[in-house]
Amino acid sequence: MVNAIFTREGPKRALITGASGGIGEAFARLLAEEDWELALVARNAEQLNRVAGVVHAEHGVAAHALPADLTDTRAIDHLAGKLAEMDFRPDVLINNAGFGLMGRALELDRQEQLQIIDLNVRALIDLTLRLLPHMRQQGAGGVLNVSSLAGFMPGPGMAVYYASKAAVLSFSEALAEEMRPHGVQVSALCPGPVKTGFQDRAGMRKSRITRLLPGHSAQRVARAGWQGFKEGRVVIVPGLFNSLAAMSVRFTPRFALRRMNAWLTGAHRGR
Ligand SMILES: NC(=O)c1ccc[n+]([C@@H]2O[C@H](COP(=O)([O-])OP(=O)(O)OC[C@H]3O[C@@H](n4cnc5c(N)ncnc54)[C@H](OP(=O)(O)O)[C@@H]3O)[C@@H](O)[C@H]2O)c1
Repeated sequence: MVNAIFTREGPKRALITGASGGIGEAFARLLAEEDWELALVARNAEQLNRVAGVVHAEHGVAAHALPADLTDTRAIDHLAGKLAEMDFRPDVLINNAGFGLMGRALELDRQEQLQIIDLNVRALIDLTLRLLPHMRQQGAGGVLNVSSLAGFMPGPGMAVYYASKAAVLSFSEALAEEMRPHGVQVSALCPGPVKTGFQDRAGMRKSRITRLLPGHSAQRVARAGWQGFKEGRVVIVPGLFNSLAAMSVRFTPRFALRRMNAWLTGAHRGR
């Protein structure tokens, strides 16, 4: 059944996190094409203003840049206050902000790894729980959470990141079922590698994952995600190769998955 938000007359509003570049910027451009009013969140105010300016200039939609560091719970309180002040009640939330770090868990900085959880999991769940009541009340709209192919398997060499994406996938699937009777869509977008700033921040430019696996463009992934969300799909894996990879996890022995991912990240090197 088509979500009521896509047939309803009147303005439609979306909040997109991580909209200062990469997949989030691609989502902003895509929704602006369809006349959605946007609230864009990320840390880099200059980049956010650039994206807001571009979508406004190209499509004439209102786009509000709301800079915030989502690893900081006070910043989320402040963001919620700002949205209330603006009377901006999102019909759709795209929880896209996220980052990862490559390296063995004991060799990476502990605090930085905890920030992965704060952003990829805590902030995502916090925003979802804050914004869902309005969607449930109106019986329309929903939440599109950006997980990853990583969410289907353990990832030695990026252990915390893979675990964070498994949490996003599990949370989204469970919530999708809870929200189904209310006409509210919850989906998890699970891309394989995407060519964005993600690899640099994760320190994985030279890894086998980046060198060997084909990467999609941010535009292609956002388009697949938005299309899947509109079709009411709960788990969206863009691309045939990635879909096969996600499916093969079901009948691949767990030890083989662990070894393969350790090889791809180089987690065993220099033991
Ligand atoms: N690229 C891939 O290969 C890949 C594959 C599967 C899944 N994903 C997922 O896709 C999502 C988008 O990543 P991307 O590939 O587009 O990477 P990206 O280009 O690095 O974009 C990440 C976005 O998150 C924002 N962000 C980072 N830290 C933040 C914080 N503390 N508070 C608020 N915003 C923050 C960044 O903006 P600021 O720096 O301005 O804060 C940026 O807008 C992530 O959840 C990622 O895990 C990526």
